[in-house]
Amino acid sequence: MKNDSLGILRPPHIFQRLARSARNAAIESSRLRLIAGYGVIGAFVAVLAALLLAPLMSTMVSDWSRRDVEARSRLVFNTIQEPLVAMLAAGEAQRIEALFESVAADSRVVAVAFCKAADERAISSKLMPSSLPCDAIARGTTEIFSSLHANGRDMLIASFPLSTREIEGHFIIVHDLTFSERRGVEARNFVSILLGGIVLLSGAAAVALVLFLTRSWIRSFRRALFNVARNAEGGETAGSVGILDRELQLILRQLKAGRAAVDSETVEWNKDTLRTIMEAELPGVEVLVVANREPYIHNFGNEGIELQTPASGLVSAVEPIMRACRGTWIAHGSGSADRDTVDQNDRIAVPPDGPEYTLRRVWITEAEQDGYYYGLANEGLWPLCHIAFTRPTFRFSDWETYRAINHRFADAVVREARTDSPIVLVQDYHFALLPRMLRERLPNAMIIAFWHIPWPNSETFGIFPWKEELIHGLLGSTIIGFHTQFHCNNFLETVDRFVESRIDREHEAVVLGGHETFVRPYPISIEWPPAALKDQPPIAQCRTEVRERLGLSEDCKIAVGIERFDYTKGVLDRLHGVDRLLTAHPEWIGRFSLVQAAAPTRSKLPAYRELQQEAIALADEINSKYANAGVKPITLVIRHHEPSEVFKLFRAADACIVSSLHDGMNLVAKEFVAARDDEMGVLLLSSFAGASRELSEAIIINPYDAQDLGEAMHQALMMPVTEQHERMKLMREQVRSRNVYRWAGQMLLDASRIRKKQRILQIAGQGR
Ligand code: F6P
Repeated sequence: MKNDSLGILRPPHIFQRLARSARNAAIESSRLRLIAGYGVIGAFVAVLAALLLAPLMSTMVSDWSRRDVEARSRLVFNTIQEPLVAMLAAGEAQRIEALFESVAADSRVVAVAFCKAADERAISSKLMPSSLPCDAIARGTTEIFSSLHANGRDMLIASFPLSTREIEGHFIIVHDLTFSERRGVEARNFVSILLGGIVLLSGAAAVALVLFLTRSWIRSFRRALFNVARNAEGGETAGSVGILDRELQLILRQLKAGRAAVDSETVEWNKDTLRTIMEAELPGVEVLVVANREPYIHNFGNEGIELQTPASGLVSAVEPIMRACRGTWIAHGSGSADRDTVDQNDRIAVPPDGPEYTLRRVWITEAEQDGYYYGLANEGLWPLCHIAFTRPTFRFSDWETYRAINHRFADAVVREARTDSPIVLVQDYHFALLPRMLRERLPNAMIIAFWHIPWPNSETFGIFPWKEELIHGLLGSTIIGFHTQFHCNNFLETVDRFVESRIDREHEAVVLGGHETFVRPYPISIEWPPAALKDQPPIAQCRTEVRERLGLSEDCKIAVGIERFDYTKGVLDRLHGVDRLLTAHPEWIGRFSLVQAAAPTRSKLPAYRELQQEAIALADEINSKYANAGVKPITLVIRHHEPSEVFKLFRAADACIVSSLHDGMNLVAKEFVAARDDEMGVLLLSSFAGASRELSEAIIINPYDAQDLGEAMHQALMMPVTEQHERMKLMREQVRSRNVYRWAGQMLLDASRIRKKQRILQIAGQGR
């Protein structure tokens, strides 16, 4: 099980992550249940306590009050005993009454009396209740306390025996216990209020805790959901999102649908598929392409303004995508008649014979072109990224111009964008700084940078003087695409070595300043069926026409090589290979010819001019070596070829040689395969071209080994028809199914998924 193209983990990782998230959520939810349980039990206990404690408290307070009253009675008795005995002995009844009145002045004392033994009479304070006769209350030889309810109130009667030689009787003090009752009620109320308060407070605390835990549980669940969205294919998640809001469910369903579409090998990728997917996945989205090279160039020619389609793999790949997506292509207006063909906004609708999208031209002066395009891009980055052993040249002035031109294109993008969240497809090494500039000005844009050339290892890239700024610029993208996983790995290694950032190896992403950039392989391809095949004559006719034009007989085998005249393409090595073939297998002398079509390119640069001269000299040398054969082994055609011409050559050939010393992909190999609807012809393909990863049925060659190349040519010329057929059939199936619509579709679907996941994050963030 492994990561898919967006770092989406396949099982069992999905389940491990899901299980972890669910486990966390479960722990939090059981904590929640525990707390809630404690809360309920606590409240119940508190209410029970209130019910039981209140009467208990009331009784306790009453008892305590009663003991207090008893103690007070004793105190009174002890205090007045002596004067009372003296007054009794002296018979001073009035003084005794006065004494008793002063004692009864206490609000809690109802009355005080002295009951003489064997005498019904009592000396008492005024308020002595008549319902308390001496014979009922004056008794006992020790102190006696008794309760009585009379006249609607509770009373305590204390009786103390008082006996001397002269006097015998009981001292009585009657206390009002109403206050004790009041105290009991107060105590009960206090306890009830106290416990009620405790219940309320602990209830509030429990509610607060429950709320807190609920929120953290929801957060945890959202996180689990986000993990699912981020890491899982929708199928496994559908059941677990039941409680989430509809928007999330919709996004997840869309994610699932998008993945099903792109993962399915049965999807027939074409213009309509791409359009349908765009409408479904990114409805109404605006697509802007930024590429240095424009798809249509207007030049002044002998017969007025002429239209040219440039020899560019980038153009042949991206142009059909733009026809499908109907956006705006922003490019350098490089043709001599370009200014004369645009409107006042520098726009022109293209293709000119049936407009489907807009070309927006950006103007660059010759001096700027020298610094930005020839200098930094093609004398600096091009040889730096291609291992073709041509030394790169770095000039600070070129770097400054490169930066300024990137700014100019950023301005153009911002001006062309109708929305604040377009998809901007930034093409190639001419615009490494553009993604960052756009990110700053259009923060919601989906920026996909595609690097069409190889990315070298970090040690090689380390010689670039402004590497940190360049990488920082690229990391403004949402996605950075390369043709192969190998180049993705090189890029991540380079970032790791030179930029302070966090690299998420699991998802192949770089996080810099909080912004995440995904690094993905998207092997570029061509449209299927190719537009250039449309009006092609049958194979036999192509063979005849080409042979007649070149003066070659029917039994002469033809190999073709077609490309820009670039030192990375291994043209010289190919010529050496022809020499080797004819030396090792002389039977091919006079029966074999290589037609090398080479479009002049970047001729302002010495390395390119020198290559042309060398190639011409080498071709001449080899041709003169076999001059007697009557057939030129090498026909070098140095000019631009329109796609229909190129396809005719492919159809006429027995073999096609792609001997790149280093190449990101190489679309010539795929075009040759696409051109051969007869399922014949042999492809010789450099193992250093990205295309060799996909077209493994080609004869894989090492262009640095002339002998190996010569033998491979011999093998190709000798290959039986059935073997050619078998190999070509498999390669055609590969190019058909993995065409350029799939290339673009994968990037756009990934962009759509990222956008949806960002939305999920936003929603989850709002829930926090
Ligand atoms: O290989 C990189 C690339 O941009 C191709 O996509 C394209 O075929 C070629 O370079 C074009 O080069 P230029 O635009 O400089 O002629």
